[in-house]
Amino acid sequence: MNVVHSAPEMRQLSRHWQMSGETVALVPTMGALHEGHLALVTAASREASRVVVSIFVNPTQFGPSEDFDRYPRDLDTDLRSLAGLKVDAVWVPSVSGMYPSGFQTSVELARLPNHLCGLSRTCHFGGVALVVAKLFGVVRPDIAVFGLKDFQQVRVIERMAADLDLGVRILRHPTVRETDGLAMSSRNRYLSPGDRAIAPALYATLRSVGAKVALGATDSAQLIAEGRSALESAGFTVEYLNMCDPDTLDDVSNVDHLVLVIAAVRLGVTRLIDNLIAVPGAIPQTAHPAP
Ligand code: PAJ
Repeated sequence: MNVVHSAPEMRQLSRHWQMSGETVALVPTMGALHEGHLALVTAASREASRVVVSIFVNPTQFGPSEDFDRYPRDLDTDLRSLAGLKVDAVWVPSVSGMYPSGFQTSVELARLPNHLCGLSRTCHFGGVALVVAKLFGVVRPDIAVFGLKDFQQVRVIERMAADLDLGVRILRHPTVRETDGLAMSSRNRYLSPGDRAIAPALYATLRSVGAKVALGATDSAQLIAEGRSALESAGFTVEYLNMCDPDTLDDVSNVDHLVLVIAAVRLGVTRLIDNLIAVPGAIPQTAHPAP
């Protein structure tokens, strides 16, 4: 497993593989790797002959009051987690390498970020789109794998890759969960034991909304009101609970078609997000296997 720090070295390695007729899959991460990340890496290795994992805590996607400084960083542990998997290169760029002085380019999307998490994290998706465009520019992957836990992020990247003709196939990976249903996240380690006990109620609530849709409920305002009240009773502060179109992320008022049920909540200092696809008249969780 090559550990690469410089962009030119990474570009050369990837180009060399592709010139030899191989395909390259990229799994972008910010490190603090858990089983969710590792599942993406395993999926990547099934899709391409070479796998690159990037580890970079990207400053441009964090707001000024967010957790950039205290975001967990432990490269040695991450490299040990990847050692058992089929990984050909781990690319670990530096902040100054990615954003040298004089850097001034941005990547903005007109609509997708004006929903859901983008409303409270105003610079977030611009920062994500920018860094992923840069990672794609260096690695030039044939395929890149992203997790559906961050559904809005997947949609932003799919749209950007299509709009900019980046020629990379975006592979969506289902959310990987703890046995009690909590979506795995690098930020779960911030949860106190008390909050950790409450946290699975987020997915349980989304599932109960999905089950009502499956049984024929169509009034999203009512479903959202019931869901919000269940989340608040469980102890969460609700940032949003929405039912929206899975492509545009626009709100859906009458649920007569497949719908994204998506929420962001807070437990103490920790912000949790989760989502599922609900299908009228069908058992929920087509995209996300039950725990
Ligand atoms: P990070 O939070 O480290 O996540 C890296 C990738 O792992 C993302 O595609 C994310 O959706 C996926 N992931 C995280 N938890 C998951 C889970 N429980 N199940 C399945 N996939 C999961 O997302 C980022 O980093 C950054 O924004 C990045 C795309 C790397 C750009 O900086």
